[in-house]
Amino acid sequence: MTVHDTIENAAAIIRKGGLVAIPTETVYGLAADATNDRAVARIFEAKGRPQFNPLIMHVANIEMAAQYVHFPPLAEKLAKAFWPGALTLVLPRREDCAASLLVSAGLDTIAIRMPNHKIAQDLIKAVDRPLAAPSANKSGSLSPTLPEHVRDSLGYKVDMILDGGACSIGIESTIIKIDGDSAVMLRPGGITCEEIKSVMGMPLSTTPSAGAQPEAPGMLPSHYAPRASIRLNVVTPKPDEAYLALGHAQVNTPYRLNLSESGDLCEAAANLFAHMRALDDICSAHNLSGIAASPIPMDGLGEAINDRLTRAAAPRP
Ligand code: TXA
Ligand code: MG
Repeated sequence: MTVHDTIENAAAIIRKGGLVAIPTETVYGLAADATNDRAVARIFEAKGRPQFNPLIMHVANIEMAAQYVHFPPLAEKLAKAFWPGALTLVLPRREDCAASLLVSAGLDTIAIRMPNHKIAQDLIKAVDRPLAAPSANKSGSLSPTLPEHVRDSLGYKVDMILDGGACSIGIESTIIKIDGDSAVMLRPGGITCEEIKSVMGMPLSTTPSAGAQPEAPGMLPSHYAPRASIRLNVVTPKPDEAYLALGHAQVNTPYRLNLSESGDLCEAAANLFAHMRALDDICSAHNLSGIAASPIPMDGLGEAINDRLTRAAAPRP
């Protein structure tokens, strides 16, 4: 089968209301036709995702996005600078928006991005519709950065998994809500705050205004959680802990994985979820008490990595 045939098969599944796991540069997504209510409902069902948590809609270009949401000048500026790429913009739905209301989960906005991955782009173009796609994992657990992760987490609930190998960034997109000419960061991610601020040429607030609706309902304190418990900012792990290291740490435990020997935060982000999965399995296999994670600097992608680790360590519901 050629690559073209594979994309055509996936497109046929999507058109019929099925679910296809797609590679993106951030993490694998669980994609369905964003204009088909039943198909979008299947995403929630497959992930066990609370209905109040809206989805990101993936488009082929700005023109496709503008058919569904209002695109003020600030949004256009950011999209032109960062699309295709790991930036999701939350924008008001148009009155004639054909996307399922389930995508917005009751909000009057849609989170939208153009992924920087050929397979994802080819599929959106083949279907000629936007794809709603949350990360392709069970709700609340670790995001997938390899096709095997999707298979392990969702298995038969997915009609097809498109194999794009490992995701190059490995951490989800940065989410920015645009409100007229101001912008609020709802989730740190694959594009750093500094990069966004330098294009905006104005401040980027990070705290949603008081009294607003829950801004990114998926941003629950506990999220991205492995089965094992996690302890943060640990320099010396206990003898019965697995260790998530960064840099040249001399740590005396056989149960350790290094996010990046050289301390490179891009490499660390790309390894984060796969290493947490592997350490989780090591904890079960060796009956360890949990995972201890090294301190991670806050610069660059460190902000997004710390965000995910903090949620993984938060008390579980
Ligand atoms: O990199 C990514 O963003 C990946 C890939 C597949 O594109 N997707 C992803 O989707 O991380 P998900 O569903 O795991 O996370 C989407 C986040 C959730 O926290 C959700 O609450 C928030 O986006 N979100 C979606 N629509 C929103 C909206 N209209 N307003 C505010 N937050 C929204
Ligand atoms: Mg997710």
